[in-house]
Amino acid sequence: MTLRKIIPAEKTINVKYAIRDIVILANEVAKSGKKMYYLNIGDPNIYDHETPKTVVDATCDAIRNNQNGYAPSTGIKSALDAIARDAEKKGINNILDIFVTTGASEAIEICLTALLNRGENFLMPTPGYPLYTAIQSKLELEPNPYYLDESNGWQPDIEDIRSKINSKTRAIVLINPNNPTGSISKKETLLKIIDLALEHNLVIIADEIYDKLIFDNQELTSIAALNKDASCITFSGLSKNFIAPGFRIGWGVVSGRQDIMGDYVEAINKLLRARVSANHPEQYAIQPALEGDQSHLKTMIQKLEQRRDIMMKTLEKIEGIKLVKPEGAFYAFPSIDVEDDSHFCSELIKNTGVVVVPGSGFGQKPGSQHFRIVTLPQEEVLTKAFEYIAEFYQSYKRK
Ligand SMILES: Cc1ncc(COP(=O)(O)O)c(C=O)c1O
Repeated sequence: MTLRKIIPAEKTINVKYAIRDIVILANEVAKSGKKMYYLNIGDPNIYDHETPKTVVDATCDAIRNNQNGYAPSTGIKSALDAIARDAEKKGINNILDIFVTTGASEAIEICLTALLNRGENFLMPTPGYPLYTAIQSKLELEPNPYYLDESNGWQPDIEDIRSKINSKTRAIVLINPNNPTGSISKKETLLKIIDLALEHNLVIIADEIYDKLIFDNQELTSIAALNKDASCITFSGLSKNFIAPGFRIGWGVVSGRQDIMGDYVEAINKLLRARVSANHPEQYAIQPALEGDQSHLKTMIQKLEQRRDIMMKTLEKIEGIKLVKPEGAFYAFPSIDVEDDSHFCSELIKNTGVVVVPGSGFGQKPGSQHFRIVTLPQEEVLTKAFEYIAEFYQSYKRK
């Protein structure tokens, strides 16, 4: 009998995740002994940020108390209640359902799976976080990117969104604060998105995983808080705000009108039951995280603001690099004057050991070139990395 090659499903062909794909090259360069500067992964724990003690203790206690069986499919009660109170604090009052998932990633995947049929589409912020385009491929959806306007502080381009809505558009994704740009959507932009969503019966997928990492004493407006009739699912979790991405705990909060959203909510719950439950002991950390000591947020925001300011000072001086000042999260997305940002980033790694992710990994307007910086590392690492970027860019950029 001759064995034949196992052929993977076609829907995996377009699944890409540039943030981790770049690590393959970085590992090769690191093997040569070069000192590396990793500015590519949004994982706070690999830098000088630590999970708050309350969060760790609550999880360890739960494990010791033998809370190690399956959890209810939607999550444990103390967590659901705390998430509801947190959402209400954000102004979301018309809550229809809440569920805890294995990272916000799982919540997002389940909500899109329960909504979209093959060949339909959701509006995807571009640039945006590549999880969504991976799910898009898995579900065999048609890509439908809308652009964030770099000349307007990376605000979603409302006219572009309007022009992209078609009969198969079912949802609009909004990442606020945005990964990779660190921008925050203004209230007036959000109101216009709601108008479009109501007019075209779209579900608003509001990814607010960075909602507590907001700079310069600004406040984040949650889109779901702005209109009680809007069909929204707001996502957050422990990964970023509570420095625990390895816990894999996230959640979704559904809001809007029961008569409009009821069947969809039931479809989401069917998928939640089919996958049994999210990680159980870590769910005991949700209530203490949301309602206990949050002093780590002040410390983290201070560090991130300082690191952002160092970045702005260095990069603003470089001719040919333009950078919109990030207002939250821990990313920045400078534009560069090169032919191909993937080639630039590969050469940067090989020549300097500085690892950043090419803009093409997040989507961008055709013809534009960027790279994404993670501003989590310690100041000395960032300062050195920015020096290298500046020096290398001078020799590399279009003459
Ligand atoms: C915008 C955005 N959404 C979702 C996620 C995934 O979050 P989680 O770790 O909760 O799955 C990330 C992680 O980087 C992200 O940047």
